[in-house]
Amino acid sequence: MAKLQDSIAILLIMFLISTFISLGAAVKPSANGFVLKGKVYCDTCRSGFETSVTNYIEGAKVKLQCKNATTHVLILTMDGTTDASGTYTMDIKDDYSDEVCSVELVSSPQSDCKEMKKDRNSVQVMITENSGMSSNVRYANSLGFLRTQAMPICKKLMVKYKIGNGHH
Ligand SMILES: *[C@@H]1O[C@H](CO)[C@@H](O)[C@H](O)[C@H]1NC(C)=O
Repeated sequence: MAKLQDSIAILLIMFLISTFISLGAAVKPSANGFVLKGKVYCDTCRSGFETSVTNYIEGAKVKLQCKNATTHVLILTMDGTTDASGTYTMDIKDDYSDEVCSVELVSSPQSDCKEMKKDRNSVQVMITENSGMSSNVRYANSLGFLRTQAMPICKKLMVKYKIGNGHH
């Protein structure tokens, strides 16, 4: 009798574990978690990329969102603020290999550099194990707020960048 009860108990536990695993399948726990880092800059040339006259914004706010790739249901949302070097850092517990994650600009403390451009205000990030990487730090591409007006020096600079790009 005791043996039968033991077997039933074991089966029940196995059932509960498998149910738990299938429910949790969407978001995989990660042993060490991840550290997501990225920079927020002031696009002083309104060019859409970092230049030699770019500066980085302290106190800018960003938001990370991970969504189910098919249903677009929000799974994770996290806020970040940039430090003196314009870098935000977020500690993330789980692995979001099956979700679509992106970081978007929220606000800038600089009144002359707070404009957002729709197609440049967010960037996709990978928050998952990568066999080629031993580090758990993941870097997002930089995001930029646009300066009210391009700095005068940008005209010269852009000519230089265009020439530079022409060689690639
Ligand atoms: C997305 O949501 C659907 C419906 O809830 C679910 O079946 C699917 O497993 C989810 N996909 C991921 C990758 O989590």
